[in-house]
Amino acid sequence: MKLFIDSADLHEIETLAAWGVLKGVTTNPSLLNQVEGDEISIYRRICELVDGPISAEVVAQDRHEMVSEGRRLAAIHPNIVVKIPTSAEGLRATSTLASDGISVNMTLCFTAPQALLAASAGARYVSPFVGRYDDIGNNGVDALREIVDALLGFDSEVEVLAASIRNPIHVIEAAKMGADIATIPPKVFYQMLEHPLTSAGLEKFNADAAARRTRQAG
Ligand code: G3P
Repeated sequence: MKLFIDSADLHEIETLAAWGVLKGVTTNPSLLNQVEGDEISIYRRICELVDGPISAEVVAQDRHEMVSEGRRLAAIHPNIVVKIPTSAEGLRATSTLASDGISVNMTLCFTAPQALLAASAGARYVSPFVGRYDDIGNNGVDALREIVDALLGFDSEVEVLAASIRNPIHVIEAAKMGADIATIPPKVFYQMLEHPLTSAGLEKFNADAAARRTRQAG
């Protein structure tokens, strides 16, 4: 499973890209709203930082405007993937953009029927939201599994991009069930890395290495 970062924060993206683990980036209007600056420049810089699919979301509501906005976003860089909401207008816009050869990530997907429609319309990526499904008392991991299973025999290159990831357990469940991608917020990357036994073990190794150096110097 490939790991993407779910962020528009250039500092966080740069830091985590340096770990060598990022295969792509997803953004959305809420994430962009948390950072300053012009969005075209932000997308350009993200494309410099990470060599992989970079999702940029349309804010238009109507299919004609979604298509125009999607074409403008796709023209920023060859790695831009146009993110479109799962709706009737979104399906129509996806179908048009896909026939232009533009990659689309259908977002705000919660169910297998929605995912099948997105894939049929030509979406290259389908983004089930795990955490937001949990938030309303459902099981987001089970819904993601149903979507992965439903798209298994689908005759296209569509990839399941697990989104709205809130903790490392979501990431591991997505990997175990065979989701193609998980897009992960910066905070969760740190949670994935840190373990008290790793920190304690490193502290002990460093103390022992220092003790040996002191003894040998004396
Ligand atoms: O990028 C879409 C998705 O990952 C949003 O996550 O945490 O706002 O539900 P969240």
